[in-house]
Amino acid sequence: MNDGAKIKFNQYMQLVNNYIDENVKIFYPENIYESMRYSLLAGGKRLRPVIAIETASLFNVPIENILPTACAIEMLHCQSLIHDDLPCMDDDDFRRGKPSNHKMFGEATAVLAGDALLSYAPKFIIDKTPKSVSSDILLNVLREFFIAAGVDGIISGQIVDLDSEKKKISKETLEYIHEFKTAKLFKLAIRAGAMIGEASQDVVDNLTLFAQYYGHAFQIYDDVLDVTSSLEQLGKTPGKDEKSQKSTYVSMYGLDDAKKQIIFYCSQACDILNKNMINSEILKAIVSDIVEGIGKCS
Ligand code: IPE
Ligand code: IPE
Ligand code: MG
Ligand code: MG
Ligand code: MG
Repeated sequence: MNDGAKIKFNQYMQLVNNYIDENVKIFYPENIYESMRYSLLAGGKRLRPVIAIETASLFNVPIENILPTACAIEMLHCQSLIHDDLPCMDDDDFRRGKPSNHKMFGEATAVLAGDALLSYAPKFIIDKTPKSVSSDILLNVLREFFIAAGVDGIISGQIVDLDSEKKKISKETLEYIHEFKTAKLFKLAIRAGAMIGEASQDVVDNLTLFAQYYGHAFQIYDDVLDVTSSLEQLGKTPGKDEKSQKSTYVSMYGLDDAKKQIIFYCSQACDILNKNMINSEILKAIVSDIVEGIGKCS
């Protein structure tokens, strides 16, 4: 990422971290709030909220109008990670370089913290978004949120991911997993930003396609990193996919083909930006970060 994009990215990230820290307070019963805050403030790249803020900024949206939605999207992402790490799912003891939520708070609390975040997030959008954002727009954003969070999004991706362990699956099924468990959340981030920016339908559609290509590249890259990185670099246990006999692009087609597929999706994503003159340094930079990252994987 070039210096200009990095500075802006870090500014947005800091805004998200502060907003979550200031607005998710601890009440009785303390342990559930502490468990929620633990995962919300454990680090993480903050890609999805930054994408939402950056997209909104392309349409000159004031930061206070997008920040609650951006943070709510990060809450949904954190929920998906807490549940993904549970012993009944991917069974990972580490997340973001720290013990995973259930390792700190126990399984029951981790399940409930995930559930809590899932309903806290849309309420957060409703409570915190300034009234200058029309309720029609907010309703559409909430609809997008529920699509990504539910059976039209992550849930279906995760169940097919789990059902595909120790099995030979088709390329279509693999793409379904990537689309639903990963790309849908990136689509939510970009669509929410564009909707709050009152972008035209054409622009929303193009940005959605960008998020789709980016999401697919992102998940295959995550699967490559699982094979090529260390616990220190990843902040989560490497080699988990092979251990669980997950169906991934790497396990099905090998590392070299996986890298080629990532490059293909990244160039498709860039094409969308260039052809439609979507002038966003950050959107360009997150794609080039993956391309650069691939060059370092072996
Ligand atoms: C991890 O996402 C989950 C996947 C979709 C692969 P990130 O790699 O964005 O995780 P954090 O938020 O930076 O921890
Ligand atoms: C991420 O897939 C999907 C989610 C919705 C959390 P992974 O299971 O590969 O994510 P990591 O590698 O545990 O972050
Ligand atoms: Mg998983
Ligand atoms: Mg996992
Ligand atoms: Mg992974």
